[in-house]
Formats: sequence, structure tokens, C-alpha cells
Amino acid sequence: MNHLLHIHSSANLQNSTSRQIGGQLVAHLRENHPGLQIVERDLARHPLPHIDENFISVIYSQPDHPNLKLSNQLVDELLKADVIVLEAAMYNFGIPSTLKAWIDHVARAGRTFTYQDGSPRGLLTGKKLYLVLGSGGVYSSGPRQAFDFQEPYLRSVLGFLGLTDVEVVRIEGTAMGQTEQALRAAQEKIATA
Ligand SMILES: Cc1cc2nc3c(=O)[nH]c(=O)nc-3n(C[C@H](O)[C@H](O)[C@H](O)COP(=O)(O)O)c2cc1C
Repeated sequence: MNHLLHIHSSANLQNSTSRQIGGQLVAHLRENHPGLQIVERDLARHPLPHIDENFISVIYSQPDHPNLKLSNQLVDELLKADVIVLEAAMYNFGIPSTLKAWIDHVARAGRTFTYQDGSPRGLLTGKKLYLVLGSGGVYSSGPRQAFDFQEPYLRSVLGFLGLTDVEVVRIEGTAMGQTEQALRAAQEKIATA
């Protein structure tokens, strides 16, 4: 393991639980893998532009067009990474729109997925993905499971790209007075990473 890509997306820059646990997880991985090179993408501090007409006009025909420079750079970061630590806050049952913008840039036919014998095949193989997910409510079990468009969406879209070796660390119930116990449970989980 040589290269780690660390992605932040919580817009809470003061006391985000996903940022706290994501940071501790990266520190832990760095201890276990001295020499690990880390690239950080903070999608809240430095939001990406949405894909637009300039992107769409070349996406199907000119993969090296200058309009795709940023997209190609983001894809290169992903391809280089052996391990990805992706932090996401839950907003309105899904992910931050800044993170969706990143996904729109990196889900690229011919670069991160392809079609083989009529079936899609992810090209981001052989990588470990950690999803560090903060949410105000509890969704991993109980009556609100069907409202969870955070973990299932990320597993689906990133799995489609080939990221199928996934470890999920959830910090749930932060709006229900459960933050301290959720942080402790997450810390216990990352200690074994
Ligand atoms: C704009 C906004 C929308 C939110 N929507 C939801 C939601 O739909 N469900 C939920 O459980 N929590 C929701 N929350 C609470 C966050 O998920 C919670 O604060 C969580 O801890 C965010 O992750 P973070 O601590 O890393 O920032 C929302 C918070 C904000 C600011």
C-alpha cells in the first residue's frame, strides 16, 4: 500500500464527525504503513464545478479534450490510489452535492468502467475503499433503513466502478444525542483497520 486518496465532503468544518473519524483512520493507516503517500481532496473547502455542456460535448468522443482536464486529473488520482478513505455527511438522506459533483467527474466510460460482452465492468480494481459516514439519524437498522440513500448509493456507484472491497464506518445518531457513543464505536472499528 503506497498511495492513499483522502476525500472530505462534510460542509461542517468545525466539528464534523466524518472528518474526525476519517482523519483518525488515515492517521492509523499511516502508522501501519510508513511511507504512505497521501493526496487530499476537500470537496467542501474547494468545490468542483458541476459537469456542464462543455463536458458533455466532448465526453463521448474526445477523452483527452482540454474540457476534460479536471475530470482526467480526478480519475488519475483514483487510479493511482491503493486505498481510498471517503468521508460523507448525510444530507437529505443522500450525500453532499459536492460529493455527487466529484462522482460525475470520475464515473468515466473507458477510464473507470467499460463494457465487456455487453456487461459493465469496473476498472478501479484491487483497491480498498473505506466509507466514513456521518448521519443525524440511524439507518443501518430499524424503521429508517429505507431512507438511506447514502451508504447504498455509494456502494452501488463505486462498486460499479470496481471498488468492491469496502469497509463502512458509520457514525450514526449525531442529531439524537448519540454522538459520543457513535464516535467510540467508530474508533473501535478503525482500530482494527
Ligand atoms: C443540510 C443538512 C441536511 C441533513 N439531512 C439529514 C438527513 O436527511 N438525515 C439525517 O439523518 N441527518 C441529516 N443531517 C444531519 C447530518 O447527517 C449530521 O449532522 C451528520 O453528523 C453529518 O456528518 P458530519 O458530522 O460529518 O458533518 C443533515 C444535516 C444538514 C446540515
